[in-house]
Amino acid sequence: MNRSLATTEPKLARPRYEHRGIDFGCDYNPEQWDPAVWREDVALMREVGVSLVAINIFGWSDLQGPDGGIDFSRLDEIIGLLHDADIRVNLGTGTSSPPPWLAARHPEILPMTIDGTLRYPGGRQAWCPSSPVFRRYALDLVEAVAERYGQHPAVALWHVSNELGCHNAHCYCDVSAAAFRRWLRERYGSIAALNRAWGTSFWSQRYTDWDEIGTPRLTPATRNPGQVLDFSRFSSDELLGHYRAELEVIRRHSRVPVTTNFMVTAHIRELDYWTWAPEMDVIANDHYLDHRLADPSSELAFAADLTRGLAGGGPWMLMEHSTGSVNWQPHNLAKAPGQMLRDSLQHVARGADSVCFFQWRASLQGSEKFHSALIPHAGTDSALWREAVDLGAVLERMGEVAGTRVVGDVAMLFSWEAWWATDAENRPSSAISYLDQVWATHRALREAGATVDIVRPGADLAGYRLIVVPGLHLVRDHEAATLDAAVRAGAHALVTFYSGIVDEDDRVRPGGYPGVWRDLLGIRVEEFSPVLPEQEVLLESGTRASLWTERLTATDADVLDRFVGGPAGGLPALTRRRGTDGAGDAWYLATLPDGAGLARIIDQALTAAGAGRAAGARAGVDVIRRVAEDRSYRFIINHGSEDVLLNARGVDLVTGETATGTIRVPMGAVRVIREDAVS
Ligand code: GAL
Repeated sequence: MNRSLATTEPKLARPRYEHRGIDFGCDYNPEQWDPAVWREDVALMREVGVSLVAINIFGWSDLQGPDGGIDFSRLDEIIGLLHDADIRVNLGTGTSSPPPWLAARHPEILPMTIDGTLRYPGGRQAWCPSSPVFRRYALDLVEAVAERYGQHPAVALWHVSNELGCHNAHCYCDVSAAAFRRWLRERYGSIAALNRAWGTSFWSQRYTDWDEIGTPRLTPATRNPGQVLDFSRFSSDELLGHYRAELEVIRRHSRVPVTTNFMVTAHIRELDYWTWAPEMDVIANDHYLDHRLADPSSELAFAADLTRGLAGGGPWMLMEHSTGSVNWQPHNLAKAPGQMLRDSLQHVARGADSVCFFQWRASLQGSEKFHSALIPHAGTDSALWREAVDLGAVLERMGEVAGTRVVGDVAMLFSWEAWWATDAENRPSSAISYLDQVWATHRALREAGATVDIVRPGADLAGYRLIVVPGLHLVRDHEAATLDAAVRAGAHALVTFYSGIVDEDDRVRPGGYPGVWRDLLGIRVEEFSPVLPEQEVLLESGTRASLWTERLTATDADVLDRFVGGPAGGLPALTRRRGTDGAGDAWYLATLPDGAGLARIIDQALTAAGAGRAAGARAGVDVIRRVAEDRSYRFIINHGSEDVLLNARGVDLVTGETATGTIRVPMGAVRVIREDAVS
């Protein structure tokens, strides 16, 4: 039941991005520097081993003036300098942030917020995704850039716009409303079908004409959930439409692969990247540690696994991360010594074949002047620079890892639509958070040494031993059926509360929760009974839990644990329906246990499923393999405060030493052991 090494091939032969070993890259904003600095920069890039440089990301106002004329002289020179130094170019189309003259001439391109106020120029990304005026100017620029550089030998990758939807994903203006109506007509065909899908009989919301429908701006009471959900889908599609439009222009001039940088990260949820991923020539992600979270490094591991899922299990690019602090969180923490290497290799361990940074040289002015960079304000006589030099050397030695794959036998279902539906207004408890459930489950699996593939609902689940479904509130019938089929075929499933409740129209499935999975799980829930945030819930096993209880009957499942006291006192909290005739078991968890409690449940489920576990993995220690046919690379990442002893045989690509038995991985260190055969 080994998960195969085969790549999920894209449907059509399309340009593929060729990694040169593990790329070491960065964003470079030469517009901010005097040309004399450019030469020094390129020399230093070579010194540190930078091999891929993203330019022209925010180049528009530097390239084009109000008369429409485009001056390519500086870009020509920069590309020439990089090319002469054998550094490949990741060329931005330059459209991410329109120049002030465009907004002054066409204020109708500005985006509108949910309360109907405009967002003005002077920051970045002040454009409405549905604006035909913005689109026309942007595509003219793309045409000019692609025509000029489409055949340039330095250009290895096209970088469309930048983090599409980072600040402007939801625009509520009248132009967006008209586009939304077009999208709805396409989806529903008739106003009657729309009324059905949105449940508009409720609160007298029935529409009689498309023109009555607007974007879901702020209302006196809560908004129609179907409208809000569809607006999220529409907004994601609209920005994907922008990507496609730029791609189409580029393709007229170039066969070089094209991508844009995703934001698989804690605080951005507006883009459904499952629908975007198939349209990218290579999946690229930007990731920044978020110190607003309790456990930023677990979120990093999750984001990296999810990005690999978007890449169909194949290699992907870490397009941006930081050498040290960012500048946009309330408290911007520096990285600890060694953390730049550790975090970089955490991404590589989970499938990245590029390690790129924002940005090359720390800005002296502008909003990001206190954002870290490869060259900090202190210059090259700095610990940060020396760590960058070390990282460059390690990545160089790790070239042979490129193209190998991470192979997991545990799958987790993840869905942006479920995220939108779960975190909507008027839910059973405002303390429910989709990501909290997802992260808690991923973390427990990771600490148990499981390698987790994150897949979309409905994906092929063949070959997985355990499939975990944390809080998947919205799921389509046919997507749900793939889980049933996988369990019938022998996989085990672990489903957690608030899953399976609504269909794609956000319509509750009647007859008892968890709706679509009642039979699979052998349970029936009559009523939710969430608890107050500060309240603790106790289970018979001694497990402590919080947030959620529910009134559950085990119709065809063993009860493994029960609530003690509280609103569901004496009722089941953990159940297991035993599979017969070769089927796997289906587990259900009706509350949110604390870390230790969840770890015990995950441990039981992994053991019952016979899923593989990496020896030595635990809280603070990641152990992950990347494999090829004839060799594998075991990444051991020690985030903890104690040294770790492990058995290993092979060459460590980080230190160059050969391991012949027990090795010591000092606290804060990483080892990447090349092992000759897949064991
Ligand atoms: C990203 C963006 C970069 C830079 C970076 C700072 O959102 O793509 O341009 O702003 O964040 O962390």
